[in-house]
Amino acid sequence: MQHLLSLFDLTAGDLHSLLATANVLKARLAAGDRPPVLERRVLALLFEKPSFRTRVSFETGMSQLGGSSLFLGDDVGWGKRESASDFTQVLGQFVDAVVCRAKSHAKAEQLARYNSLPVINGLTDLCHPCQALADVMTVHGAFGTVAGKHLAFVGDGNNVAQSLALICAMLDMRFTLSCPAEYEMDAEWLERIFKLYPSAAIECIADAKVAVASADAIYTDVWTSMGQEAEMAERRKAFSAYQVNGQLMAIAPNHARVLHCLPAVRGEEITDEVIDSAQSDVIQQAGNRMHAQKGLLVWLLNRGWIEQNVTDSAF
Ligand code: CP
Ligand code: NVA
Repeated sequence: MQHLLSLFDLTAGDLHSLLATANVLKARLAAGDRPPVLERRVLALLFEKPSFRTRVSFETGMSQLGGSSLFLGDDVGWGKRESASDFTQVLGQFVDAVVCRAKSHAKAEQLARYNSLPVINGLTDLCHPCQALADVMTVHGAFGTVAGKHLAFVGDGNNVAQSLALICAMLDMRFTLSCPAEYEMDAEWLERIFKLYPSAAIECIADAKVAVASADAIYTDVWTSMGQEAEMAERRKAFSAYQVNGQLMAIAPNHARVLHCLPAVRGEEITDEVIDSAQSDVIQQAGNRMHAQKGLLVWLLNRGWIEQNVTDSAF
């Protein structure tokens, strides 16, 4: 069964194909065309943490494709009212695919283990693959290409950063993380990337000014992720030199785009003047969540449509 628990579940070829599909569907939507590629298919969204973008982009995307979705919050009792095995096998009787947002990555993996339907990771503590799909689509939209582009991530080496490091390796992009030493990415995660993509251009640079000097895209995310609220004060202190502000942007190339997965804590990891500037693509980036995920859903559930309608040159 094909899942998307992390981008490690895709080959570079798979990734190109689903991103090309996303671009084709985005262009067709802009032309007023909503092909019913997933007619009467049903997507479940099983969420243990809050969400705005991920939930709404999956639900609207599925609807535009002629399918439907249902949101399952805490009340369904995933892992609480009955065994995980019973719960997930029963879910498989009703729906065609499931997006899960889980507190721990292990729980998402467990969902995939017991299931006969595709499981999509809608964010875990380890990674956020759907976000990274939209992010590279945004870079592609800005520059017409992604290979060779340099993405500098200023902030926590968290779930978002980890997916970005991997997707950059898969697409021959350069990825730089700039953060305090104790907030670097998981060593095992990086090892896995380098094992699969030995020539990956990934580095960590403590000085944010050095990291952004040659960046084509500057990315940041919250210093305190969901579930880390108890560490907020110490994180604020640790990351105080890692704010994406006007001074940092003055060092970056003029053509550099600004990205943020949102939600942002304005005035903390990014200032109003930067996030609202002409260099910022954060709103288009959020919009691309829906387009990227439509490409992913069609790639998972109707590969035949891609063969008939998508050429790889679209990404
Ligand atoms: N970027 C993102 O995943 O947003 P939500 O938490 O609102 O879904
Ligand atoms: N790193 C953030 C991303 C939110 C979309 C979190 O996990 O809370």
